[in-house]
Parts: sequence; C-alpha cells; structure tokens
Amino acid sequence: MELLDTTLSDWMTGVFASCFPDHDLESVEIAVVATTVEGFGDYQCNAAMGLARVLQQNPRRIAESVVNSGADHEAVEKLEIAGPGFINIYLNTDWIAAQIVAMGGDPRLGVPVPGEGQRVVMDYGAPNIAKPLHIGHLRSHNIGSAIDRMLRFIGYEVVADNHLGDWGTQFGITIMGWRESGDAEALEQSPMAELERLYVESYEKTKTDEDWLTCCRQELVKLQAGDEENTALWRRFVELSLKELERIYARLGIRYDLSRGESFYNDQLPDTVSDLEARGLARPSEGAIVVFLEEEGLPACIVRKSDGGFNYATTDIATVRSRVEQLAASRIIYVTDERQQLHFKQVFAIAARLGYTASLEHVWFGLMRLPQGAFSTREGNVIRLDALLDEAEERARAVVAESSPDIPPDQQDEIARMVGIGAVKYADLSQNPQSAVTFTWEKALALNGNSGPYLQYACARISSVLDKYAERHPAVSLAEYPVILGESVERKLAVHLLQFAGIVIQAGENFRPNVLADYLYELAGMYSTFYQNVPFLRADEGVRESRVRLCGIVADVLRQGLSLLGIETPKRI
Ligand code: ARG
Repeated sequence: MELLDTTLSDWMTGVFASCFPDHDLESVEIAVVATTVEGFGDYQCNAAMGLARVLQQNPRRIAESVVNSGADHEAVEKLEIAGPGFINIYLNTDWIAAQIVAMGGDPRLGVPVPGEGQRVVMDYGAPNIAKPLHIGHLRSHNIGSAIDRMLRFIGYEVVADNHLGDWGTQFGITIMGWRESGDAEALEQSPMAELERLYVESYEKTKTDEDWLTCCRQELVKLQAGDEENTALWRRFVELSLKELERIYARLGIRYDLSRGESFYNDQLPDTVSDLEARGLARPSEGAIVVFLEEEGLPACIVRKSDGGFNYATTDIATVRSRVEQLAASRIIYVTDERQQLHFKQVFAIAARLGYTASLEHVWFGLMRLPQGAFSTREGNVIRLDALLDEAEERARAVVAESSPDIPPDQQDEIARMVGIGAVKYADLSQNPQSAVTFTWEKALALNGNSGPYLQYACARISSVLDKYAERHPAVSLAEYPVILGESVERKLAVHLLQFAGIVIQAGENFRPNVLADYLYELAGMYSTFYQNVPFLRADEGVRESRVRLCGIVADVLRQGLSLLGIETPKRI
C-alpha cells in the first residue's frame, strides 16, 4: 500500500507539470492535504495560489486548467474548484473500500518501512544515577522510548543506548557524604533512600563549606584516577542504583539494547583529547585544552579542564566516535531537556570537524515543572517517579473496581497497572514535546477527555462489540463480505483509517509522538460518532459484516498506535 498523502501529492505534481509544460514545475512540490472542513472534498490542494506569480495567471484560472485537464487517478472520483482557486479532491468510495480491505489484511496495517537498512542509535533516559528518579526524569524516557518504538516500527534498526550519568560530580559528593555519615545497614535495607540522604546532606554542605566542596572535587578526581577505595564505593553505589533503575524500567516497559554509561568511555578520554589536538582542532588555553568554535558561532568548548579532568562534552565526543565506528550508526538521536541545546550544538560541531558524517540530531523537550516552580533532588522538593506511578495505579484501581466489580481482584490489579501507567505516559506524550509542562496530578491521571484511559476504554469497548458479534454469528468468515461505505460517517472513518501509515511515519520521523496521539484521539471520536449513528449488530446482513470489519480495523489501529506510544491495552476496563 502506498501512502495516501504521497500518492495524491505525486499525482497532483504530475498534473500541474503537464498542464503547464512551458514552466519547470517537475521540481515544485505540490502538496495535497486532508481536508478539515466538511463539504470540501476529502483532500485539497492549494498550490494554485502559490503558483500564481510563477505562472502569471490568476489562481482560479490555474485551478480550472488542472480540473479541466481530464487527468484522472484510480483513487480520485472528481475534482472541484472552490473559492479563489482551491482544488477539492473527492476520493472514489470503491477505491477507499479496497484500500481498507488491504489494510485489514495486513498485520502492519499498511505502514511501510522507509527506515529499512539504516541503523540509528537512540540516546534517551540516561539519568544521572545514585539519585532516585523523580517526575522530571519521565519525559526523556517516555518521549525517547515512544520515538524508539515508532522508528523501529517503520523499519529502522534501532540501538537504544542508555548513556547513564554514572561518572559525574554526584559521586564525589556522595562519597564524601558516605565518609561523614554513611550507614551500612541503611544502605543494605533501603539503598536509594540512603544514597539520596547522603547526596542531599553532602550537597547542602557544599553550599556553605568551601573546604567540603574542595574535598568532594578531590574525591571525584581520585575516583577518576582509579583510587581503589573510591572505585569500590562507586561500584557499590552504581550496582544498587542500577537495580533500582531496572525495577522502574520494568514498570515503564522500557528496555535498552545497551547501557553504556559515561564511565564506559573514561579510558578513551585522553586519546579523544590528544586526537583533537593532533588534528589541530583543540589547543591549550589558560591551562585547559579548548576547541574554539567561532566559525560555527558557538562558545568555545573545554575538553580538558586545567585540573586535568574531562568534561561532559569530552565524553560525548568519545561516545559519537564509538557509536559511529563500533556500532556503525548512520544516525544518532539524543533526547534531553531544552537546557542541553548548546551542549549538543558544540558536540555536533566538533563531530563534524572530526569528519563524522552520521546525522546527529538533538530532540529537546520542555522542562516539567510543579505549579509552584522548578524542582530538584538537591533541594529535596521532588515527586519521585515511583510515587507517581504508585499513585496512578491506585487511582486507576479505584476506577476499575467501580466499573468492573465482577473481575477477579488480581485481574483488576493488572488492568489498573496498564491504565495507571498508560495515563501517565499519555498525558506527557500527547503534548508537543517542546512545550513546558506543568505537572498536576489531575492532568497526569486524567481518565477521560484526551487521555490514555479514554483510548484504552474505546479499544476495550470495540473488542466487546467484536466478541458479541462472534458470539451471535460463530461460523461467519468476515473476509468473505465486502466492505461497503454507504453512510458518510463510515466513509469518513475509513478515510481517517487510511491516514494511519502517513501519521506513524510523520510522528516518527519528526520526533512528535503527539501527532500520533492526536490522530488516535480523533479516531476514537470518529468511531464513537459512527457507533452512535448507524445500527451495528442490528444492521442487515452484509452491512453488518462490513461494519464489524471496519470496527475490527479501528481496534487494531488503536491498539497498534497505543503500543507505539508504549501504552498497553487491556481487553476490559
Ligand atoms: N545524564 C544526562 C542528564 O541527566 C543526560 C545524558 C544525555 N545523553 C548524552 N549522550 N549526553 O542530563
């Protein structure tokens, strides 16, 4: 199956070119888009307006030439001109039905694999460990993993690599905290709480006590130089943190192919810097080694500090090299919050100077704030990610208990898990990633409106219609009945279904899970209009089977779409 938008745009491009052979229009992209207003066709092309100047004709005349050219396409029933020169495209209903049949018979629901043959490293999540995850950590994991799922689905060979912050300043601070007041038993019993206590207390001290701050830095330098005692402590802290992280990842349904934290690259840092120097890209400046990036209009990037330590950027340069050379990545996609834009501009500029041609892309997102402002582990005003997930499941549990009291309790728990986690994920993914989000419990746990649970519920309701049909008509093979799109609501629903493939590609390639979320929400709305306005199980034979088939595809698209967002769909709610 071809993409509907592309098919129509390519066709229109050709039609324009042949209507105006004296102008070079072959290379002009003539866009065709889905119509949003009822009564103006299924698709529309507004190119006549844009071409008026080039063609030196009024747009209406241009549109007339196109419409009267006699050009046809199997998908198109008729063309009409509206207003100053809009071309409305009406699709052929039999063609739509045939496409729906093909889509229903395809396990991929018509989604092609344009990414095939390309290896992409996805860098998301990547928390600084030895500190508990809080709600601010949700977005990178959540948005990153949705992009990961979408890119995999459209054929990319994705290597998800968790670039853990397992080597930074927080270890100097925590090691000093441990020296001062470490409690071995507490570390055994509740490791994250103990690590957090050590970190927060020690960090507090750095604010008022210069000597303490110096000691923290020295402990880090010792660790990075391979000091035995610090290395042992570091190992233990990392091990405990990773265990905790795995638990949360299991809850969130996130799985990495690799977890190469910053420490993985530690040995490569001296070489990375000397390589930059040898190639004349970095030079000494005030005791440090610096890459000057004036040409790119960026501030200089210190790759080795005057105390001999390396920076976050140095590690990222070594990481690019390893991903390109060892992992053969042709693209690397980084998902972090907006504050790292400059960092990645610098790293990408340096990588380009080093001659790496892989495409490096930074997907940044707006920060998550509490209504009362920003939060941070250091200040202690955080909502733990764990606590958020617990609360979400609990609230969902109450809803499930009320809506389906007949379901056995352990199954209710399982449904509540899917609904609660789904709500949290969807609330985040359904917004434009680049807008800042203010966290509120109400929004994160919304169970209706444009929410995860609403879509899960729509999916479950459709499943039950399908079950009911199967109960009443056990021996029927639906595929033997044609798809008939007699009513305008079902025709509209069918056209929307055909847009799924294009939406998945657009959402994946543009790193915008919200595009897919919006699409699914609209689909669920159209489905309920359809369901409420035409008889279904009570329709005549033939029409009934056609509607049941359509309904099955809606359920499949909702399920597949939600799964690309990392959201599970319970059979019942
Ligand atoms: N650990 C960093 C942080 O918490 C994010 C790492 C992103 N990935 C990278 N390759 N720099 O801010």
